[in-house]
Amino acid sequence: MPRPKTHATIRDEFCIESKAQPCGMIIFGASGDLTNRKLIPSLFHLMCHGLLPDKFYILGCGRTEYTDSQFKYTVAGRLEQLDLQHDTSCREKFLDRCFYLQGDYGEDTMYSDLKNRIEQLDNTCNTGSNHIFYLSTPPNVYGRIVENLGRHKLTKKSGDRSPWTRVVVEKPFGLDYESALELDSHFHKVLTEKQLYRIDHYLGKDTVQNILIFRFANAIFEPIWNRHYIDHVQITAAESVGVEHRAGYFEQAGLLRDMFQNHMLQMLALVAMEPPVSFDADHVRNEKVKLLESIRPFSIKELNRQVVRAQYTAGIIGGQPVNGYRDEPDVNSHSTTETYVAAKLMIDNWRWRDVPFYIRSGKRLPKKTSEIAIVFKQIPYSIFLPIKPDDFSKNMLIFQIQPEEGISLTIQAKHPGPKLCMSALSMDFNWQELFGIDLPESYERLLLDSMLGDQTLFVRHDDMKASWALFTPILRAWQADVAGDSLRFYEAGTHGPNEADELIERDGRQWLEHQF
Ligand code: BG6
Repeated sequence: MPRPKTHATIRDEFCIESKAQPCGMIIFGASGDLTNRKLIPSLFHLMCHGLLPDKFYILGCGRTEYTDSQFKYTVAGRLEQLDLQHDTSCREKFLDRCFYLQGDYGEDTMYSDLKNRIEQLDNTCNTGSNHIFYLSTPPNVYGRIVENLGRHKLTKKSGDRSPWTRVVVEKPFGLDYESALELDSHFHKVLTEKQLYRIDHYLGKDTVQNILIFRFANAIFEPIWNRHYIDHVQITAAESVGVEHRAGYFEQAGLLRDMFQNHMLQMLALVAMEPPVSFDADHVRNEKVKLLESIRPFSIKELNRQVVRAQYTAGIIGGQPVNGYRDEPDVNSHSTTETYVAAKLMIDNWRWRDVPFYIRSGKRLPKKTSEIAIVFKQIPYSIFLPIKPDDFSKNMLIFQIQPEEGISLTIQAKHPGPKLCMSALSMDFNWQELFGIDLPESYERLLLDSMLGDQTLFVRHDDMKASWALFTPILRAWQADVAGDSLRFYEAGTHGPNEADELIERDGRQWLEHQF
């Protein structure tokens, strides 16, 4: 059935204006996948929308032996693949600002060359010596790069006053609590926290940011945003893709590290945190950390009842047969790495006491979808006898994060007609239909914020620490389970293992059906 069109009136638009300062963006890992897939297209869009400073350059760094013109050629090739509606002058302008430096991250000469090159580009592009170093390399070289930048006096500035130096770091930031702290101490030898921008790209998604606007720019939701009105919350991030070509990374990481420690927990924090004093980076992040620290630690004895880990076996997705995880290229045929996790989290504070947060994420599920569902409590009493309170479905507010960004609210309503009939009605607001534009790629927002010096949507050290502190005991318990007894299996293309259903059904609840 065709989807009904969204009807809504948009008025009273308010924007917080900010302007990015001149700067050079130095990307380590410039010939890698992330640069190609996300960074280059996002920077290009920003330029075409007039959001990049005029005085700006990109210096790609990597081991691949490119000259400037070869790098420009690969960037041009990438722009060609995108379905871009922009005029060619923007494309030329963008390519004019792309440069490349080849080198080995472990070699001193790389950094002396880098220093010279940066000085020269700062002069020609007039960027006022403001620099962003973007670490888009494998994480095992982060420490080395930052230490070398420090030794070559490339980080000795402030995070906010010009001339500034900022470092943007991709996840994973550490492999567990201890390694994350160790990495952090390396960074802090040469950088202050104000200079560090730890990326979680989910925070750059428009609909994730919308949670904050929804909660704190409307008066009607906050009074009911608590244990008195909310029954439980479900957060889902499902993907139909498997491990793809990333077995080297994923075999070590597993889904708990890959999605839970960062994206899932960040979404949960935005839904559940207290109102911050202002939209200032530290005010927002203080509240997030406070919330993360209120999550009840998992009981290792009861772990199997609180957390389900599973791995996909062969199955069918979109009518096509797909391999099981253990048969994917470069995966150990006895691997116990999890590709699915479901968990029940409890938050020990006044607002959320006894409200469960059920969260799940997995690969090779039927389709890609991410959403947050706030499920409200049953009505306390029915005046419509013989219809009982339990017969009414619960009100639900859903933040649809992707692929179709939007919000929907489910309410009970009367069917038109002479009889008293009612049913659940869903009011859907679809962002694309409403605003008539494609939502920006999350990296656009984050790259722009790194130039603006706005750390609100980046993960602070205590935030990172709190999330690793929560999950590291689980990782340890799974590591100790050498035989993999706690690992469950699910067929690719299904909704996950039965044990994940049992996790929520034990509480008399169910995963929402419509999700995927
Ligand atoms: C990344 C994970 O952080 O997020 C990937 O490493 C995952 O495994 C991806 O596929 C999902 O992001 P998105 O934006 O496509 O939902």
